[in-house]
Amino acid sequence: MIKVALPNKGQLFEPTMDILSSCGYKVSKSLRSLSTMDADNQVEFYFLRPGDIPLYVANGILDAGITGKDFVAEKCVSPTCLLDLSYGASKLCAAVPVGHAAKTLADLKGSKIATSFPNIVRGTLPGNELVELEGAVEISIKLGIADAIVDIVETGSTLKAAGLRIIGEPLFESRAALYAHPGREKQEEVLILKSRIEGKLLAQEYMMVEYDAPEALLKAACAITPGIESPTVMSLEKSSWFSVKAMIKKRESQRILDSLSKLGCKGIILTAVDSVRI
Ligand code: PRP
Repeated sequence: MIKVALPNKGQLFEPTMDILSSCGYKVSKSLRSLSTMDADNQVEFYFLRPGDIPLYVANGILDAGITGKDFVAEKCVSPTCLLDLSYGASKLCAAVPVGHAAKTLADLKGSKIATSFPNIVRGTLPGNELVELEGAVEISIKLGIADAIVDIVETGSTLKAAGLRIIGEPLFESRAALYAHPGREKQEEVLILKSRIEGKLLAQEYMMVEYDAPEALLKAACAITPGIESPTVMSLEKSSWFSVKAMIKKRESQRILDSLSKLGCKGIILTAVDSVRI
């Protein structure tokens, strides 16, 4: 049995629940629940503040966890990163009111900056007075306690709604990742968790193509769809015709379909792949 931390709120909550459910884990969370047991998979999930997860995993209180890389950097701890995930891409940016004169990050020198990421801000924008807040940082300028903010920006809609604009380059670029307590990466349930998520993420990059080809075209068709090891080739009942099946990269799939069709292959079918182990 392993203990795994999951974000209990924020932008990482829903995609994390979605990917774990699709990987066969029982992670349903009722409003006030703080943990849930998945006995079939030998995992106990804990719903925690995304910013607290790095400490629980780094200290070994929990075996693994999913959170943002920005939260790990902020806590200055080093759990082992097992896997970068496909969601939670965000940037930690400085922002000022739309009408503010500042043009670069250097123009913020001496400003009062509100943030939930004081360690990252101290490291990247030294020499400013910091106002440390738990959340809703965007409203702090309007409330008169800061001149500028540093906060997570995903779509930018929260900033826009608060009448703020980004200034300068991001201080940190983040995404969600799967972490483990150092030394527990090889624990069986941790390996299974990693490989199921990896299989789901990899499946998003691939598609399965199936088609029929006459013997004369078989070699050229297989060269277009070499598959991972090699394509599966089976003979059809119709003499000198073959059915071919191969994994192809999703981003190349339409070009491959065009090529197979142009070559003279028939009955070309493209299907999504749910999960893979390569
Ligand atoms: C984050 C962040 C911003 C918002 C940015 O909050 O703190 O407030 O998302 O997203 P946007 O650019 O798409 O508008 P989150 O909902 O993760 O939780 P928080 O309020 O606890 O920080």
